[in-house]
Amino acid sequence: MNTHPVALVIDDEPANLQILATLMDELGMDVSVAESGPRALEVVAYRVPDIILVDIMMPEMDGYETVRALTARYDLSNVPVLYVTALADIEHKTRAFEHGGHDYITKPFDKREVQARVRTHLELAQYRATLERRVQEQVLKLDQINFALVSALESANSFKDDLTGLHIRRVGAFARILAELIGLPHERSRELERYAPLHDVGKIGVPDHILKKAGPLDRDERAIMEQHTVAGYRILKQPGIPAVALNIVRHHHERWDGTGYPDRLAGPDIPIEARIVSVADIYDALRSWRPYKEPFDHETAIGLIAESTGSQLDPEVAAAFLAHDDRFADVFDQFVMEREAHDRPTRSGARR
Ligand SMILES: [Fe+2]
Repeated sequence: MNTHPVALVIDDEPANLQILATLMDELGMDVSVAESGPRALEVVAYRVPDIILVDIMMPEMDGYETVRALTARYDLSNVPVLYVTALADIEHKTRAFEHGGHDYITKPFDKREVQARVRTHLELAQYRATLERRVQEQVLKLDQINFALVSALESANSFKDDLTGLHIRRVGAFARILAELIGLPHERSRELERYAPLHDVGKIGVPDHILKKAGPLDRDERAIMEQHTVAGYRILKQPGIPAVALNIVRHHHERWDGTGYPDRLAGPDIPIEARIVSVADIYDALRSWRPYKEPFDHETAIGLIAESTGSQLDPEVAAAFLAHDDRFADVFDQFVMEREAHDRPTRSGARR
């Protein structure tokens, strides 16, 4: 594997190309050369540079255009760019920095200065890459801790007999798919996947004889049951817990027609994350065993979701679900297979 940094030198003058290539070679770098912008675009396709030295005045594509085309590539967007040019006026210098330049060297140049600048920019780029990698590692770690906490919280409440926590993970997976289908941004979809599993955290305050009652609930029992939304909201209302998590927990039993609970919100007043989790949670509850019902097959579940569209469920979210219902069936089946593989209990014992 090649461990030397790679310099890409772009200049239409063969003599300049040669001098700069030699200077980079003396720094222990591998060198790619291109005598024009279009040629540079070809070169980077098979060897990604760590630094780019580019002339400004070139036929076909000038240096600015070349840099714009190169840095539009995702893998080159952070590569340091040094303009090396005979143009010494302030307009060109300013323009170079506006066009993705990190430095500007005027010809004739001192060789040692060029090498010193290249070394500095390479070090800075490596430092930045290391920092970015560390941040990504920390974000990943936080994600894992977050998911572990979510699972622990959920296991501690009514789903404590569902040892694999599959219900909450399924609802998270369904919520993410739905968010993507209705066009929410990627980061929002990931947030939904992360926090949807918390939707029933407030059930920790609901007594088991109500949660696991086989028959219908009476009025008082129903009132206690409905408190799980507000209780969950109070549990989670801590500094650092994002609004999306609070909205899911508090509002996932609101109904599109305004007859849900706890706040009787209607239509678009219900936060979108709660409308999404509502569809995800209902599909999963329909497909699962509950103390008061046997599991339904996929066809029956989608029939019931279609019936609830516009009354209980957001028509747009429900339509996205119904148009891609196979994907949800597949995810559900995958989780069932995972459960069987781990030989876990097949029944989760609480009401929705
Ligand atoms: Fe709930």
